[in-house]
Amino acid sequence: MQRTHTLGELRKIDSGKEVILSGWTYHRRDHGGIIFIDLRDRYGITQLVFDPETNPDAHAKAEHIRSEWVLKITGKVRPRGEGLENPKMKTGEIEVLVTELEILNEAKTPPFEIATEKDVREDLRLEYRYLDLRREKMQRNMKLRNDMNHVIRNFFHDQDFLEIETPIMVKGTPEGSREYLVPSRLHAGDFYVLPQSPQQLKQLCMVGGIDKYYQIARCFRDEDLRGDRQPEFTQLDLEMSFIDQKDVITVVEDMLHQLTEQCAPQKEWKKYLVNGRFPQLTWQTAMEKYGSDKPDLRFGMEFVNFSEEAKTSGFGIFEKSEFLFAVKAEKKHGELSRKDIDTLTKLAQQNGAGGLAWLRVGEESGPVAKNSTDEFLQQIEQKTQAVAGDIIFFGAGEFIQATEPLGAVRSELGNRFGLKNENEFSFAWIVDFPMFEKKEDGSIQAAHHPFTQPNTEDMHLLESEPLKVRSYAYDVVMNGVELGGGSIRIHDPKMQAKMFEVLGLSADETEMKFGHIIKAFQYGCPPHGGCALGIDRLVMLFADEKTIREVIAFPKDQNARDLMLRSPAPMPAKELAEQNICVLEDE
Ligand code: AMO
Repeated sequence: MQRTHTLGELRKIDSGKEVILSGWTYHRRDHGGIIFIDLRDRYGITQLVFDPETNPDAHAKAEHIRSEWVLKITGKVRPRGEGLENPKMKTGEIEVLVTELEILNEAKTPPFEIATEKDVREDLRLEYRYLDLRREKMQRNMKLRNDMNHVIRNFFHDQDFLEIETPIMVKGTPEGSREYLVPSRLHAGDFYVLPQSPQQLKQLCMVGGIDKYYQIARCFRDEDLRGDRQPEFTQLDLEMSFIDQKDVITVVEDMLHQLTEQCAPQKEWKKYLVNGRFPQLTWQTAMEKYGSDKPDLRFGMEFVNFSEEAKTSGFGIFEKSEFLFAVKAEKKHGELSRKDIDTLTKLAQQNGAGGLAWLRVGEESGPVAKNSTDEFLQQIEQKTQAVAGDIIFFGAGEFIQATEPLGAVRSELGNRFGLKNENEFSFAWIVDFPMFEKKEDGSIQAAHHPFTQPNTEDMHLLESEPLKVRSYAYDVVMNGVELGGGSIRIHDPKMQAKMFEVLGLSADETEMKFGHIIKAFQYGCPPHGGCALGIDRLVMLFADEKTIREVIAFPKDQNARDLMLRSPAPMPAKELAEQNICVLEDE
């Protein structure tokens, strides 16, 4: 037998018991003849005592033990001496007097301390992830992730959803990112594609009468990485038949209520509910008030719309702008220096603005104050209810240009002024997304994906003014993060073909890329819709982490590499030839 108890289990009541324990050496202390070893496993830490009078042999061996050696001991549980109890440890009332010791394995000195919460370089942590996983924080995060998956699975099982595993070697999915390809040995020159999401397969499940599908699904996207993006990530994916938007939103939201109650009971989130439900904002409102389709609603700082007043403001840039929005940085929250404003200007530029116009109320410096009419300046003060010393920042231009950069400024001001309460979760639904968005080259693409149903009221604009068409697409957001998104789908094959046409695909291209789905829809496709949530992002927020790498057991680094496995890696020529692949020389 390797163990009778785990290392978080023994209490005073167990005193006198003979136990067998196994685990890793956490600390070793030599106290004048007596050696103490803290032994660690996933469940906790137990203090072992090696007394030369009990077993001189074991004591002698214990002298050589180093951090992370793997031990098995037999011993007797006893209460700790008076005043030596450690209330911070679950097993802090007891210790185990060792009668026998077996060293199961020695260990090299780890490249970083396991027994510390101190910062360690991330590349080192990722190279030795198996050691990093032994650390308390990672153990906590992995357990939380497990518990959240468990709540999710139970929830959907109880609601009669079927968990269906869809394939990983598939065909391209238009989710907007570059894809990972898998060469085919049997079909020279052909490729499988790794799914960006199970989107088409879950819709085909609906054609297949599955009715309620869900999956904790692995997805693959070859895109620029950030803290909340990985090339390989996990979605909670679901789809339902014979439902409308409200039904999908209700199911996902009920699940999130349960998940928060069970896995983040310490968070305050109910204060943000409206009649017991997450608030819903249209995309238009979210953009006009917060300059973001994933607004952080833990703080106010709503935009004020000056698009009308701008036309007679006297300030040339504003007069020419289709839209003008303003956000107020109140002096009572904090002072902003010129350098701070320069940094905010850069942020606005990185988010698509030409610059960042601003004025400090009560002062005449700066281009806006100098060039605007007194009337306009008065309107600004009145509508923003600003007082002397407050700074007003402006976003001007076309709708997106006037809102998004200012949204980034608002969010950054929220950080600087400490307005984002870390103990709160502020969930919301963003609904009525536009069906299309403009690409850099001026053409249009589906804002969510081309399977999304356009709003019936806007159908007449599909060809004439596609950018004005709203869709039945919705996102669930929390604390400024997009947790998930979904939509009601097109289920009419003719409409689906039309959508591809509007998106500029020729009939041949549609047939080649999506012929299978249009074919399937011709065999009685039920009305359906669904949603997918990023599990990594959810766990990140529940674990109070800043990146999803902290909640993924074996993540890729910022350059999409696995530093532990050293992948991607070159392939021997023989294997490449077998896969019918010829690698071009790097110039
Ligand atoms: P979407 O592309 O919005 O929708 O993705 C859904 C959610 O998945 C998460 N996510 C990611 N998480 C980590 N790394 C990434 N690279 C990454 N990309 C996306 C986000 C996002 O909100 N098929 C549709 C869903 C549907 O319509 O049902 C889809 O995939 O949290």
